[in-house]
Order: sequence, then structure tokens, then C-alpha cells
Amino acid sequence: MTSSPNHATRPAHPLPIRVMHWIGVYAMACMILSGLVIYNASPILPFTFPRWAGLGGWLGGALAWHLSAMWLLFADGAAYLIYGFCSGHFRRDLRPQGFGALKRDVGAAVRFRLGHRIGHYNAVQRLLYVGLILVVIVAVTTGLSLWKPVQFGWLAGFYGGYPVARVIHFTTMSLIVAFVALHVTLVALYPRTLVSMIANVPTESEEHS
Ligand code: HEM
Repeated sequence: MTSSPNHATRPAHPLPIRVMHWIGVYAMACMILSGLVIYNASPILPFTFPRWAGLGGWLGGALAWHLSAMWLLFADGAAYLIYGFCSGHFRRDLRPQGFGALKRDVGAAVRFRLGHRIGHYNAVQRLLYVGLILVVIVAVTTGLSLWKPVQFGWLAGFYGGYPVARVIHFTTMSLIVAFVALHVTLVALYPRTLVSMIANVPTESEEHS
């Protein structure tokens, strides 16, 4: 890992990333929980979700939550993408490091030997975060095609039609939930990372690895 002169003082997570992360968590939670109630109104699988697990109470209420949180998620996601590209955050912190690094870090992860330095993302994290960003983009665009199937008919067509877009939308939600389960487990294993996603904690230098 190369170290720049301001390496030690650079925050592990710049303030905009921390703010956008927690706004995104709130918006995503509203989207998923209200989505469960919307799904229950017309399930595509042979089960429904318990009423207490959803947000909005009934179909109309859940749609209101879903469509208002959608704008928050959209604005937050757009700001995150613009900031990520313009500030160099994506290039520096999330750019995949190649197959060799991935093989090394997956090997270390399965042996519970994967080290973690605050403010640095290993190859497994990079893959997960970039994968998540792509999945969220598919979730948002399939959602748009379901919300306005006439205006965004071309988008629904791109995904193979309305019924297929619904299945993809549900699948992206499931992948996001799987990511969050793994993500929160890893945060619980390395609680110091949580502090760095809340407060201004400096990037950890190589001596800590
Ligand atoms: C209560 C739930 C959550 C907690 C406690 C949490 C915590 C964290 C922490 C501590 C990090 C920094 C990891 C590190 O330094 O190695 C992080 C990064 C990240 N989290 Fe979460 N997170 C949560 C939910 C979510 C959700 C719901 C999403 C999106 C679906 C998400 C997406 C991300 C992404 C993309 C990053 C990397 C951000 C970047 O540097 O660009 N997180 N999270």
C-alpha cells in the first residue's frame, strides 16, 4: 500500500461518505421494509412476509413510504456516485486490485486470517462494495420501470418485460439483504470500523496490520 504525506491524518471515511452512508442506510431500510408489504399484496413466491415485519401497514401506506424513500435513496445515491468519482474515492479505495489480490484475500478470509486496517479496503470488501453499488443501480432502474411502466416502457423492455423486471427487482432486494447481513456481521467482528464510520478517525498506517 502506498502512503502519501497526509496519509496518517486523512480521515478513514471523509465526512461526506459518513453522512451519505447513514442516510443511505435509513432510505434503504424504508425501501426494503415497505417493499415487503407491497410484495405481500401480490406475491411472486409461495410465501408472504409477516405483517409486523413491514412498513406502512397496508398497500397504500407502504407505497407512500416506498415512493418517498425512493427520492431520498436516489438523491443520496447520485451524490455518492458524483462524490466517489470526483473526489478520487472510488479510484483510491474501491478500485478492484486484480485477481491475485482477490485470491489472496479470499484465502485469508476463509481461514479467518484477513487483517483489517481502518480506512483501507481489502480485495474482498472492494468486490462486495462495487458489487453492491451495481446491484443497487439495477434495483433502482427496475424499480423505475415498475413504477412508470408506460413512461419507462423501454427500461422494462430492456429487462425483458414487466414480469421479469419484478423478479429482478425482488432478487436485487434479496441480494442487498444478504449483503447487509454479511456486512453487519463483519462490522460486529471489527467494531472499531463502526466508530470510524461515525466519528473522524484517522486512516490506520501499515504498522497496525
Ligand atoms: C446498521 C447497518 C450498517 C452498519 C452498522 C454499517 C457499517 C459500516 C461500516 C463500519 C463501514 C466501514 C467499513 C470499514 O471501514 O471497513 C461501512 C461501509 C459501507 N457500507 Fe455499511 N453499514 C450498515 C448498513 C449498510 C447498508 C444498508 C448499506 C447499503 C445497502 C451499506 C453500504 C456500505 C458501503 C457501500 C460501504 C463502503 C462505503 C465507501 O467507503 O464508499 N451499509 N458500513
